[in-house]
Amino acid sequence: MSAQASAPGKAILAGEHAVVYGKPAIALPLSGIRANAAYRPTGSPLTLIAEDLARPPLVIDTGDIVSSDPLALMAALTMQYFGLESLQGEIRIQSEIPIASGLGSGAAVSAAIGRAIAQLHGTALPNAALNRLVFEVEKQHHGTPSGIDNTVVVYESPVYFEIGGAPAFLEIADPLLVVVADSGIASLTRDAVADVRTLARLAPTQTARVFEDIGAMVNEARQCIEHGNIARLGELMSANHRLLRALDVSAAELDNLVDAAINAGALGAKLSGGGRGGNIIALVDEASAPVVKQGLIEAGATQVMLTVAGQGSQNDDSD
Ligand code: MEV
Repeated sequence: MSAQASAPGKAILAGEHAVVYGKPAIALPLSGIRANAAYRPTGSPLTLIAEDLARPPLVIDTGDIVSSDPLALMAALTMQYFGLESLQGEIRIQSEIPIASGLGSGAAVSAAIGRAIAQLHGTALPNAALNRLVFEVEKQHHGTPSGIDNTVVVYESPVYFEIGGAPAFLEIADPLLVVVADSGIASLTRDAVADVRTLARLAPTQTARVFEDIGAMVNEARQCIEHGNIARLGELMSANHRLLRALDVSAAELDNLVDAAINAGALGAKLSGGGRGGNIIALVDEASAPVVKQGLIEAGATQVMLTVAGQGSQNDDSD
């Protein structure tokens, strides 16, 4: 028997970093870029092959539960969930999501592996259970994640997220057109999160105020999304970027792309995810979308993608 499963990338619309400290954040799935896991039977112990991720083949058994490799850990945790001692075959992972770019590659690869093993076991793996397993992997390999990445990737739905609360899946009044542009700079979320932790220790009052302001903005952004106030949502995104700069998680290249998007007519723009590198997102309308995409390419973006959130299903195209 063979099995095939996938999970999408993600963008943080508002609230990254502050979400780690208990503030709310909003994330969107990027259904047009996906991590795929394909299983085929072989006579050998389960092996993970992820050439895209520049990894040697990994042989898995459930003794691997404290594996130093996140892919192996996800496979082992899923096998343990189903009570499987061992498996034979091969899972080949192919991902269209750039790594170390703030687009949720790690969580998506984990979710795809979990789903592929569930399929070949012939048993459903409910999203809530899959979400817990992917979060476990995120915790072991990404420091102190809030849980927003695994949640948006597993449920593949726009989400308002807060640590400790049930995720609220958002009703989007007017579809959101978002351009995602890659700075081409690799950056590990774990490092940016660690640096914000240091800043919070060195300047606790100032940092707490920034988190507070971001949290208030996210709540207003949610209202805008639910009531179709796109112009104000754009302003909030740009204000969120300024606050992320205050947390020192931006970079000259990201600021440059944000400015280029605004100059080309975007309603608002910000870095998305851990920052320091990776992607920016810009809120656009039908008229400004092509101009903003072109402006971002001219400003040095290595990849530009338009995504639409809130049209029933997600809808992406990429250049
Ligand atoms: C990463 O997509 C978002 C961060 O807030 C980290 C996290 O919430 O785990 C930077």
